[in-house]
Amino acid sequence: MFSANTKVFRPKMADVSTFFPVKREFFSGFIEIFSEAAISSYFFSGESIKLVVDKGVCFFSLGKKERVWKGQLHVAAKILDGRQIASQMREELKGRIAGLVQRGIRPGLAVILVGDDPASKSYVTAKEKACEEVGIYSSDNRLSAATTETDLLGLIERFNRDPKIHGILVQLPLPKHINEERVLNAICPEKDVDGFHPVNVGRMVIGQRCFLPCTPHGVVQMLVRSGVVLEGAEVVIVGRSNIVGKPLANLLIRKGRMGNATVTICHTKTRNLAEHVRRADIVIAAAGRPRTITADMVKEGAVVIDVGVNRVEDASSKNGYRLVGDVDFEAVRQKASMITPVPGGVGPMTITMLLYNTVESAERAAENR
Ligand SMILES: NC(=O)c1ccc[n+]([C@@H]2O[C@H](COP(=O)([O-])OP(=O)(O)OC[C@H]3O[C@@H](n4cnc5c(N)ncnc54)[C@H](OP(=O)(O)O)[C@@H]3O)[C@@H](O)[C@H]2O)c1
Repeated sequence: MFSANTKVFRPKMADVSTFFPVKREFFSGFIEIFSEAAISSYFFSGESIKLVVDKGVCFFSLGKKERVWKGQLHVAAKILDGRQIASQMREELKGRIAGLVQRGIRPGLAVILVGDDPASKSYVTAKEKACEEVGIYSSDNRLSAATTETDLLGLIERFNRDPKIHGILVQLPLPKHINEERVLNAICPEKDVDGFHPVNVGRMVIGQRCFLPCTPHGVVQMLVRSGVVLEGAEVVIVGRSNIVGKPLANLLIRKGRMGNATVTICHTKTRNLAEHVRRADIVIAAAGRPRTITADMVKEGAVVIDVGVNRVEDASSKNGYRLVGDVDFEAVRQKASMITPVPGGVGPMTITMLLYNTVESAERAAENR
């Protein structure tokens, strides 16, 4: 049926596929696929050929020598489902928690919320629910907006000494009259499961054992667990905050399987953002601005991670708004090979990494008993 040159491709990823019709006469001709790496397999059925493609685009030509049908096949990116990866990681954590419980230790997380900012309330509720689901004890501390800094520091000190508590999380932002830096520095580094304490930040930078910050660590886990090779990859991060951009860059340049990437960080003073992003094998958007990354800025087949969470007005939604990321999702999806949605991408990973750090902390406490 095929010429001697026909390549046989073994199916790898059957979940990203496309189907298009070709004339029967072509079947006795030849098939040549220019972008072999993009094709996992092909199947014939009736008058059609089905190519299974695992990259954003492939170029093909099929038919007889005198009549060649050339084309370009675009396949929308694979959606990286943060909820699914997070749920797999939470199952793994349940096993570790069961091991700790057998040794008489139940991991405990103290969650502190000051004031009644609706977004913060919903984050805290989600974190407590997640703790409950995996079997972590959570101490819920919702304080009034009028709480003094001294009282808050006193509560943190109490949890620093409490052996039932392995992690302390202070939900940010804090009311204006409280000094955020003083509060975060008051959490003992061994219970700083958010990874924001300068001791943990410093340890991360020089590669010592520490708690990794949740969102950046979640992004790295998501990439690695989705089979994305970081070694040697050109990564462009848009955003240089202390909680996302900077730590993420630090993690990605570490030596080892979870790092070894070449990283560029962009910010509002970067000249020609598009030029940088276009070079990237992996684009990570953490700018906090909708449509910062548009399709013309993305290389064919790039992996796109959208950390941004932005509220945009939407009269059709019952709250009057909806959440979007920093990436022009529908358009970029047509070019990327993998992309995270918002919501349902990085968000669930962030909470999972908080649980992960709390379990790590409890395991360290068990080691030191
Ligand atoms: N999904 C999650 O779990 C999660 C967790 C944390 C944050 N987030 C979201 O991620 C986004 C970023 O958070 P953040 O705390 O890092 O924000 P941030 O502190 O406001 O930092 C934003 C960064 O993006 C840069 N930036 C903004 N607009 C830009 C543009 N047009 N071009 C290039 N750079 C630009 C800023 O540059 P300059 O430094 O020059 O101002 C800054 O470095 C937000 O939407 C936030 O809600 C999500």
